[in-house]
Amino acid sequence: MALASQHENLEILLDAETIATRVRELAARISVDYRSRPLRLIGILKGAWVFLADLVRNIDLEVTVDFVSIESYGNNPTTSGAVKITKDLDRSIEGLDVLVVEDILDTGHTFEYLRGVLEAHKPRSLKVVTLLDKPSRRVRPVQADYVGFTIPDVFVVGYGLDYAQKFRNLPDVRILRNTS
Ligand code: IMP
Ligand code: MG
Repeated sequence: MALASQHENLEILLDAETIATRVRELAARISVDYRSRPLRLIGILKGAWVFLADLVRNIDLEVTVDFVSIESYGNNPTTSGAVKITKDLDRSIEGLDVLVVEDILDTGHTFEYLRGVLEAHKPRSLKVVTLLDKPSRRVRPVQADYVGFTIPDVFVVGYGLDYAQKFRNLPDVRILRNTS
């Protein structure tokens, strides 16, 4: 099946241009907030890689990048609470200003778990930037320091976000209905 026919009937929630504008705004704020301090970005694989790639190219700081890969148990499209790290940090973050780059904050299980793991490595500071936030779905007490877009309780794909590993390559964020 051609790529276009896989997604053309999915409603666009955020188009590529809207995302690009917001990503530049976030990067500008981050550049001001951390001015002249080196920053370690930690991308959460796989969903955050597209966002991180655009964000990092707009950040005007000395930046280094690392990745952590997280997997939820089971095949549920959203997390049930049980999370494990399948790829750990390559470099120590002790004493560093760390900014976690997330695709989406949903229930909060993933970030709550990750925050505990990362704090144990004693960073100087630990903040999170998420492209998307679904606060209405939150069951754990976590909040992002920087939010691209607050969205309603819909399942979205594209710009790095997947359903069953598909749709990550779509340039827009689209709504996928009937996932269950
Ligand atoms: P949380 O642990 O419930 O906060 O979920 C975080 C993870 O669930 C994200 O990093 C995504 O991988 C996945 N997720 C949650 N909502 C969506 C969505 O609407 N589309 C795609 N993935 C989602
Ligand atoms: Mg996912």
